[in-house]
Amino acid sequence: MAKPERYGQPDGDAELRAYAAIVAQTFAGDIQSFDEWVRAFGLENLRILRGDGVLAGLTIYRMGQFFGGRSVPTWGIAGVAVPPELRGGGLGRELMAANLAEQFEHGPALATLYPAVPELYRSLGWEFAGVRCSLRMRLADLPRDAGGIEIRPATIADDALIRDIYTRRHRHESGCLDRSERIWERVRRAPKDTPVGGYLALRDGTPVGYLLYLQKRDVPGRFAFDIAVRDLVAVDADATRAMLAFLARHRSVAREITLVASPHDPLLRELMRTQEVPTELQMAWMLRIVCVKDALEARGYSPHVSAKLRITLLDDTLPGNAGHWSFELADGQMRATQGGKGGATLDVRGLAALYAGHHSPAELRAAGLLTGKNDGDSALAAMFAGPAPWMPDFF
Ligand SMILES: CC(C)(COP(=O)(O)OP(=O)(O)OC[C@H]1O[C@@H](n2cnc3c(N)ncnc32)[C@H](O)[C@@H]1OP(=O)(O)O)[C@@H](O)C(=O)NCCC(=O)NCCS
Repeated sequence: MAKPERYGQPDGDAELRAYAAIVAQTFAGDIQSFDEWVRAFGLENLRILRGDGVLAGLTIYRMGQFFGGRSVPTWGIAGVAVPPELRGGGLGRELMAANLAEQFEHGPALATLYPAVPELYRSLGWEFAGVRCSLRMRLADLPRDAGGIEIRPATIADDALIRDIYTRRHRHESGCLDRSERIWERVRRAPKDTPVGGYLALRDGTPVGYLLYLQKRDVPGRFAFDIAVRDLVAVDADATRAMLAFLARHRSVAREITLVASPHDPLLRELMRTQEVPTELQMAWMLRIVCVKDALEARGYSPHVSAKLRITLLDDTLPGNAGHWSFELADGQMRATQGGKGGATLDVRGLAALYAGHHSPAELRAAGLLTGKNDGDSALAAMFAGPAPWMPDFF
């Protein structure tokens, strides 16, 4: 029998359980829950390195990410883990490099993750490309006028409506996930004994927003609980205000809310009754442009920008991306063609930050990720101009 490859899917239940045990140890959880978590992904979404047993592993969320109004296929990478006794010996890098090579060959145009060790991912061509921002507010400070918008409990029958509102609201933002089934499950999943509320906002019977939230008592025995909003998504400001006013109705029994919003969200203006909106947590996610041609041609662009330039791209990990490129944008469609010569030199990490709209060419020059001729910088800036990238999800 042929020896199994060093990198690949778990070869059945024993390897799956071995990876689940590594994840449980790594992320300080119980083996039973992590076994269920890993199993739910299915073997096709798990990757391991094997040697004398399972040495390392990761999980894949297959989904999309919105850029320029279009959903670009991406793999969200999570559960990257090496047992402590094997750390620092190059296994993490080997696993991630093998995964990128697989993606380049067969997979999506992009990969995205929340890094615990940014340097590991940077060394493989990833770069910070957007944020996730959690805000904490006192319920007493929220607006109280629902403005004639009806809020009613959501049921499972409203699922398609909820997803439609999510997509309408987030499609034209940069970096928000085109959520897969597994990401929707994460949004809805609640710890045991934590009630989840789901509500729809309607104007004259037409859905204009939805709300998913948990009621959490962090301090046992305390009377008041806190509200953790998973999704507060509205198609306009009136619907946002109405849902905040709905949350404010919990203020006799709840003290504070946390909600996840873009740092630039117009929602913030609704919250700024106290002038200060404390950020409880800001995390940054990284992006990897896995296949330059597919990534550039799949995203959306402004139909009002026509520009053409040449670039020399540096990519040591995926040499198929490296070398001379021509980027030509017209009528909202990019054509990325390999060949030619000339132009500035751009590191693939810089391309990720530019692609997402996280950094401008001037910032990339300051970071040393864009060097050489600068006569194409204004064209690059115009091509990739867009809203500041963020996403509401953590995975
Ligand atoms: C992070 C992890 C997967 C890296 O695997 P590893 O086999 O230990 O890493 P490698 O030996 O391949 O190191 C590669 C690079 O990662 C970075 N790195 C690794 N461990 C690190 C640590 N503890 N702190 C900071 N950087 C670290 C370094 O840049 C290192 O490069 P260098 O050796 O040239 O300095 C592993 O340490 C682990 O499982 N940690 C706990 C879980 C975790 O943090 N997962 C990541 C979630 S995104």
